[in-house]
Amino acid sequence: MTMDIAITAMVLAIIATIFASTMFTGASPVPTSKSVRDTMMAVLADAGGTIEGPIYELGAAWGGLARVLAGRYPASPVRAFEISLLPWAVSAVRHYLDGPQNLCFRLKDFNTVDLSDAALVVCYLPGETMQKLKPKLEAELPKGALVLSNTFAFRGWQPIKTRTASDIYASQVYLYRVG
Ligand SMILES: C[S@@+](CC[C@H](N)C(=O)[O-])C[C@H]1O[C@@H](n2cnc3c(N)ncnc32)[C@H](O)[C@@H]1O
Repeated sequence: MTMDIAITAMVLAIIATIFASTMFTGASPVPTSKSVRDTMMAVLADAGGTIEGPIYELGAAWGGLARVLAGRYPASPVRAFEISLLPWAVSAVRHYLDGPQNLCFRLKDFNTVDLSDAALVVCYLPGETMQKLKPKLEAELPKGALVLSNTFAFRGWQPIKTRTASDIYASQVYLYRVG
């Protein structure tokens, strides 16, 4: 009985932390699906060239997309930021057990992170959060940096490539280049 209460309290606490961070950021920790991840990697490959420099995953949730990026670009450090405690903890534990070494997960608000050395920024964030992020990207990203977004476009920016994923939502993927 005591065990039941403890488990119920733990589940409720976990739900509460996810709910609180979703209310705070406006973004729930829904991961990019495999089909959309594949489309994102294909768009990057289409853009040609290599990614030379750090990759930032802004709002990494459970870390799936960050791990795919780290595997695809082993020579680049992948810096993944997440503000919600449980998804970050799951990503960090999995990373501790399994690597890879070029990836790190930080429990941090990405709005406080210096992006001035980014070669690539990746995000899957709702429209309002994207619009708030836009001036920061415009101020900090170096010329030539790439920005890759799942589903949500930056209003006023012209993508260099777009592609539709084969998932049931026909999700759009947008790739931008700074400068
Ligand atoms: C839709 S999920 C995307 C997950 C992952 N990028 C993917 O594509 O699989 C968005 C995540 O962004 C996180 N987030 C939103 N605003 C944030 C902020 N200011 N700093 C860090 N993480 C944030 C949310 O907590 C949520 O987990």
